[in-house]
Amino acid sequence: MKTTISNVDKQVEQSVTIGAWLHNKRSSGKIQFLQLRDGTGFIQGVMVKKEVTEEAWEAAKNLTQESSVWVTGIVREDDRSQSGYELTVTNVELIHEAVDYPITPKEHGTEFLMDNRHLWIRSRRQNAILRIRNEIIRATYQFFNENDFVKIDPPILTGSSAEGTTDLFHTKYFEEDAYLSQSGQLYMEAAAMAFGRVFSFGPTFRAEKSKTRRHLIEFWMIEPEMAFMNHDESLEVQEQYVSFLVQSVLDNCQLELKTLDRDLSKLEAIKAPFPRISYDDAITLLKDKGFTDIEWGEDFGAPHETAIAESFEKPVFITNYPKDIKAFYMKPDPEREDVVLCADLIAPEGYGEIIGGSQRIDDLALLEQRYEEHGLTDDAYKWYLELRRYGSVPHSGFGLGLERTVAWLSGVEHVRETIPFPRLLNRLYP
Ligand code: 4AD
Ligand code: MG
Repeated sequence: MKTTISNVDKQVEQSVTIGAWLHNKRSSGKIQFLQLRDGTGFIQGVMVKKEVTEEAWEAAKNLTQESSVWVTGIVREDDRSQSGYELTVTNVELIHEAVDYPITPKEHGTEFLMDNRHLWIRSRRQNAILRIRNEIIRATYQFFNENDFVKIDPPILTGSSAEGTTDLFHTKYFEEDAYLSQSGQLYMEAAAMAFGRVFSFGPTFRAEKSKTRRHLIEFWMIEPEMAFMNHDESLEVQEQYVSFLVQSVLDNCQLELKTLDRDLSKLEAIKAPFPRISYDDAITLLKDKGFTDIEWGEDFGAPHETAIAESFEKPVFITNYPKDIKAFYMKPDPEREDVVLCADLIAPEGYGEIIGGSQRIDDLALLEQRYEEHGLTDDAYKWYLELRRYGSVPHSGFGLGLERTVAWLSGVEHVRETIPFPRLLNRLYP
C-alpha cells in the first residue's frame, strides 16, 4: 500500500510503498541502512542481503545521495529510532538518479549553503525549522479565528509608507510612484473600523542596510488591529497570542524541537501574563548593568534588548517609549506627553524584539499635528486621516515578526534559516 513516512504509525507490521529520496546510507556488507526522507519525515530502511533479491540489493547498493526511489518494506516499531519506526526494506526501485549532490554529509560554510538554499531546505534541520514556521502560521489562524478576528489582506503595492519614509522599496506604478509595503497597519486600521477585530498576515519589505542576525529585507508580519481597545487590553491579547503559539509548537512539534535540540524547559515557562517594564525603568536597569552611556531618549539596540531580556525568563514588554523615537500615529500617554502608549515585546534568550505595537491616535487634530511634525506632507495619507472624521474610536494594534518568532521557538541563531528563501542585504539568489 502506498503511504507516507508521516503515516507509517498506522501501518505497523504491514507492507508499504513510499516515494522517497535517499538522504544518506551506510552498509556493513550484509546489511544496508538507508536513511530515507519523503518530505513528511525521515525513516531508516534496513535491507538484509539474504532476504531480498539480487536485483533489489544491487539497486540499493548503487543509490546515490538524493536519488529518488519507490521503496517497499514492512513497518516495524523501533524505540531506538527518533521517529519510533523503522522499515524492513524488501524492494527498492530507482525513479531518478541524482549525480553529485552538492550538499554532502560533511560540514559546509554558510555562504555555500545559502547559494544552495533550494537544496539545503531538504535537510533535516531546515525541515524542522520550516515545519515549526508552518505550525506558528497554523496556530495564528486558529487563535485569531477562535477570538472573532477577521483576516483582512492589505495591499502590498502602496502609494504611502507606514513606518516612515526611509527604507522604502520604490517602483514605478505605470506613471505614478509606488512602494512595497513596510507594514499593512494603516489599512488594518481602516479594516478595524469596518470589522471590529482584524488581522493580516503577509510579506513586508524594508530596504534596511542592516546586516544582523535579526534583519531580513523581506519578512512576514502578523498585524492584528482592534477597535474599542486600549493599550493595556492590547497587551493582554499579545501575551495570550504568544503563549498560544508557544504551547502549539510544544504540542505539535516535539520531533522538530528534538531535531533542533531545543531546550524545552525554556519554552514550557512561557505562559501569560508577561512582565512589563517602562522605558524609563529599562534605562535605569541598563545603567545598572553597565551601559553607562545610554541616555533617556535614545532607542535601544540589540545589545540593550538582550541585556534587558536577561533579567526575565518570559518575554518582556518595554512600554511607553519617548514619542520622538516612535511612529507618528502612536497615542501620547494622557498623563505624560513625552511618551507614547506603546510597547515592544522582547523575546527571552537574546532573540530580540518580536512585537511592536501601540494604541493609535484617534483625535484628528492631534494626528494631523503629529503627521506634520514628522515631516509628512503629501496627500497619500488623506484617506488615513479621514478615519478620524467618521466615528473615531480608541483602537490598538500590533505587528509580530514571524521570522524572529520562528528563530526564538526553534532556537536558531540567525533569521536566514527561518524563511524558505531569505532576502538579505546582498542576497537575492536563489
Ligand atoms: O516594530 P515594527 O516596525 O512595527 C510595525 O511595523 C507596526 N506598524 C506594526 C503594527 O503595529 N501593526 O515591526 C513589527 C515587527 C518587529 O517587532 C519585528 O519582530 C519584525 O516586525 N521586524 C522584522 N523582522 C525581520 N526583519 C526585519 N527587518 C524586521 N523589521 C521588523
Ligand atoms: Mg519595532
